[in-house]
Amino acid sequence: MTAAATLHYDYLRQVVFSLSCNVLDPSHDYLFETRLARLLRHQGMTQLEELVERLRERHNPELERAVAEAMTINETSFFRDLRPFELLRKELLPQIVKARQSNRTLRIWSAACSTGQETYSLAMLVREMNPALVGWNVQIEGTDLACAMVERARAGRYNRIEINRGLPARYVVRFFEHEGEEWVVKTELRDLCRFRSLNLCKPPLPFTGHFDVILLRNVMLYLSWETRRDLMRSVHRLLAPDGILMLGSVEQPVEEEMWQSVLAGGTCYFRPKSTG
Ligand SMILES: C[S@@+](CC[C@H](N)C(=O)[O-])C[C@H]1O[C@@H](n2cnc3c(N)ncnc32)[C@H](O)[C@@H]1O
Repeated sequence: MTAAATLHYDYLRQVVFSLSCNVLDPSHDYLFETRLARLLRHQGMTQLEELVERLRERHNPELERAVAEAMTINETSFFRDLRPFELLRKELLPQIVKARQSNRTLRIWSAACSTGQETYSLAMLVREMNPALVGWNVQIEGTDLACAMVERARAGRYNRIEINRGLPARYVVRFFEHEGEEWVVKTELRDLCRFRSLNLCKPPLPFTGHFDVILLRNVMLYLSWETRRDLMRSVHRLLAPDGILMLGSVEQPVEEEMWQSVLAGGTCYFRPKSTG
């Protein structure tokens, strides 16, 4: 690789970090070519060098954001890893619902929701709890940095491959409508969910009150230690004292003394410890 190419990649990595706090490993620099190919085409460019020159020429927040979003990894699926969702269904959600009988409110946050499968998986579990939740105020928030992902989540339209990944047939029949080549989330599920764009690494996070359950899965692995630490502190503040945090299977809280890890159902979840 030429010295000039290395500088271009360095510059692009800085742009990505400043916008999304995602740390890209130089050994994966080749990904810029593939992930930014569409953006280049839209901009009428053929080479990454042109993009870098344009970005260097003058501050262009829209283009910088497009670069950062294009470099995010959006891999997801319905009921991803299954066990956390089984645990929520069988044990944790019923416990929380019992504990919230007096105010009849349930708040769940799917942080870094990508195209929405995680959020709708949670909504399916909640809907399955009816009639226990009839008359309750249930809010399921799905947020992601990437606007294109949030739009897809909001649309709730999935192709055959996406539907075939992790979604039991009984849920397809109950919660989706088949339209042409796609399956569309039914209103009863959509009504529970609200999607919006949110950068987890630009505090303060725009929430008041507490969540009962937070899923922060498969996003921290792209962040630096400092960013993870700050994010985990915010999440700690936003979680109800008896709330539940679920991370991705290879992720851990940074300041472990702030969390009680609980092994159950072949998986692990976290409860916030009081920090005094
Ligand atoms: C691998 S997906 C995980 C999706 C889902 N949570 C799951 O486990 O299947 C990671 C998501 O994190 C989002 N993301 C990356 N950096 C982010 C940030 N700083 N703020 C919010 N979302 C971010 C990406 O856009 C991407 O959709």
